[in-house]
Amino acid sequence: MSEPTTKPATEPASTATAPQPAAAQNESGILPPQHWAQLAEEGHDDSSDFEDAGSSTASLSSSLLNYRTIQGRRYHSDQGNAQYWAANDDAQNEALDIIHHVITLLLDGKLHLAPLKDDIQKVLDVGTGTGTWLPRARRLALSYAQHGSSPGIWAIDFADEHPSVSVLGTDISSIQPGWIPPNLQFQIDDCTQEWTFPENTFDYVHIRWLFGSIVDWTALFKQAYRSLKPGGYIESHEPSVSFLSDDGTVNDKTAMGQFGKFFVEGGKKMGRSTTVLEDGIQRKGIEEAGFVDIHEVNLKTPVGGWPKDPKQREIGKFQQLAVLNDLEGTMLYMSHIIGWSRDELTVYMAQLRRELRSKDIHGYYWQKVVWARKPESA
Ligand SMILES: C[S@@+](CC[C@H](N)C(=O)[O-])C[C@H]1O[C@@H](n2cnc3c(N)ncnc32)[C@H](O)[C@@H]1O
Repeated sequence: MSEPTTKPATEPASTATAPQPAAAQNESGILPPQHWAQLAEEGHDDSSDFEDAGSSTASLSSSLLNYRTIQGRRYHSDQGNAQYWAANDDAQNEALDIIHHVITLLLDGKLHLAPLKDDIQKVLDVGTGTGTWLPRARRLALSYAQHGSSPGIWAIDFADEHPSVSVLGTDISSIQPGWIPPNLQFQIDDCTQEWTFPENTFDYVHIRWLFGSIVDWTALFKQAYRSLKPGGYIESHEPSVSFLSDDGTVNDKTAMGQFGKFFVEGGKKMGRSTTVLEDGIQRKGIEEAGFVDIHEVNLKTPVGGWPKDPKQREIGKFQQLAVLNDLEGTMLYMSHIIGWSRDELTVYMAQLRRELRSKDIHGYYWQKVVWARKPESA
C-alpha cells in the first residue's frame, strides 16, 4: 500500500476560509470540517462507560517489516495489490481484539454459523487480523477483568476449540502473536492475488471484516470455492460502516451519522466498497461463485451502554470501547483520502467521542453473516 495518491474531491479547507454554514454538505453528504470546529465551542457532557485506552506508538519492528508510516501511524507494507485503510499498530490492533469480543458476544460464543461437521481437517481464515496479542492483553486486562472474559482473535479461538483441525490464518500484515496453538499457522498473503492452495484443500473458509479491502468480491469467493473441498463451507461476515438509530438521535447532522460517509466516500475513491452489506455483495458473490444452500443472518450491534437489555448493554459497552480505543487509526487514512487534514479530523473526532460516550444517543450498526456450501458434486 502506498500513501493515498487519489486527489481529494475538494481542497482541504484552510483556516483562512470563511466558515460555511453548519448544515452545508457536499455531494457525498459529508459536513465540512468547519462544522465541527464551530460545534467544539459548545460545552458537552463527557460521561463514559469505559476509559479511553490511550494512543498508539510505532513499533520497533516497523523498519524490519517495511511497514509504512503515514502521519505517525503504522500501516501495512507493500503486498501485491493490497490496499487497506486501517493502521496496523497496537492501538488499532487492540480495537480489533475488542471487536472480536463484541462479535463473539453477538453470536452467543459461537465462532461460526456454518454447520461444520466434527471431522473437518483444514480451515482457512482470510485477513485474519491482529497480532502482538500478549502485551495488548496485559494492558487490556484491567478493562476485561471485571467482565470475566478475555480478548483473542478468531483463528486462535477456533484452533483452541478444534485441536484436531489445522487452521491457517492469512493477512498482509505480520501482526499475529508468536505464541499460538500448535494447530494454527499464519502466512503473509494478499488474498486478492491468485491463491496458490491446491484445489479442494479446505473444509471451511472464514472471511470477516474485509470491507474496504476487496476490489472484486466475486473473484475472492471464486478462489474460496476452488480451494474448498466439495461439501465444504464458506462464511462471510461483514459490517455496515454506518451508525443508525431508531429514534433519530443519530442523523446526518451528528458526528456519528457522518462517520459512515467518510468510509463510503473513501471506499469509492479506493475502488474497494465499504457498502458490502447494503449492496448485498456477500450473497450475490457467493451465489455467483457457485455455492449452494445459502443462509444469512443480520446482527444489530448497539454502540454504547444505552440498551436496557443487559446482554445488549454489555455488547454496546464493548463496541463503544472498541471505537473509542483508536478512532484515529480507524479514520485517518479515509479522511486523508477524502481531503481532510489531520487537524480537521481531530476536531471532528472530539465531537464524535462525545456522542459515542453519550447515553442520550442510541446508535447501532448492522452486521451480516452469510454462509453457504460447495456442492458435493463439484
Ligand atoms: C478489519 S480487520 C479484520 C480482522 C479479522 N478478520 C477479524 O475479523 O478480526 C481486516 C484485516 O484484513 C487484512 N487485509 C486487508 N487487505 C487484505 C488483503 N488484500 N489480503 C489479506 N489480508 C488483508 C488487514 O491487514 C486486517 O488485518
